[in-house]
Amino acid sequence: MATLDGARVLVIGGASGVGFAVAAAASAAGAEVVVGSSQTARIEAAAQKLGRGAVGRTVDVKDEASVEAFFEAAGAFDHLAFTAGDWGHMFGPTRDLDIDASKARLEVRLWGAARAAKHAIRRIAPHGSITLTGGMLAHRPMPGAPLTTASAHTTEGLAMGLARDLAPVRVNAVCLGLILSEQVQTMGEAVLKGFTANLPLPRAGTVEEAAEAYLYLMRATYVTGQIVRVDGGGSLV
Ligand SMILES: NC(=O)c1ccc[n+]([C@@H]2O[C@H](COP(=O)([O-])OP(=O)(O)OC[C@H]3O[C@@H](n4cnc5c(N)ncnc54)[C@H](OP(=O)(O)O)[C@@H]3O)[C@@H](O)[C@H]2O)c1
Repeated sequence: MATLDGARVLVIGGASGVGFAVAAAASAAGAEVVVGSSQTARIEAAAQKLGRGAVGRTVDVKDEASVEAFFEAAGAFDHLAFTAGDWGHMFGPTRDLDIDASKARLEVRLWGAARAAKHAIRRIAPHGSITLTGGMLAHRPMPGAPLTTASAHTTEGLAMGLARDLAPVRVNAVCLGLILSEQVQTMGEAVLKGFTANLPLPRAGTVEEAAEAYLYLMRATYVTGQIVRVDGGGSLV
């Protein structure tokens, strides 16, 4: 296992939730951290809260010029965690699907991740890693959300394809079950219980528990093209 002490770690989506927890864990492991997200006030507040010299930079992954500028400003680095995600991305039932509007909903999670990989590869260390973020809806489809399942699969497919294309840089993805980010906490106790009561570990995960998987994938120097599920055992039931 490689150490993160002295490594440079970038987290796109680091203003909140899982991304912020990844940045905090990397920083605690001795990494120099740069966090990015689209809202300047939020990302600057996150960097200040992280402390230890963490830097916050605005980046909108929907905009390739913004992504390019983010990596140019960041300079050489070792690891990228991509946790950016817009909410309200559910696509709705097939019979009512607005195809053109649905295409736009892939801008952050699929095309944003692709833009990040394209510009990351120009500055990442050959021993470095990229970790993308997917979700369990890829493997546990729900009625009314077929395109959400398809969208979640694109993340895992992209990680596997990039692992071949960008080698020896390692590329993996973390597939999240229900994780108690600030966004998820707004769902309320009853809804959370409904989603988690039947899991082998019958609760939502914490952002710190999710962050462990990203740190593992940064350090695991012989692991590439893999999807690590952090789902309380949800894939077993
Ligand atoms: N939490 C869960 O239970 C769960 C389950 C499955 C999958 N996931 C996925 O995991 C990821 C992280 O989830 P989370 O719960 O930690 O959500 P979150 O707290 O909302 O984090 C998402 C981050 O992405 C940033 N972001 C949004 N649009 C962006 C853009 N255009 N460019 C750059 N950054 C952007 C947001 O900051 P700004 O607003 O400042 O841009 C925010 O910091 C998401 O992709 C989510 O879909 C989460």
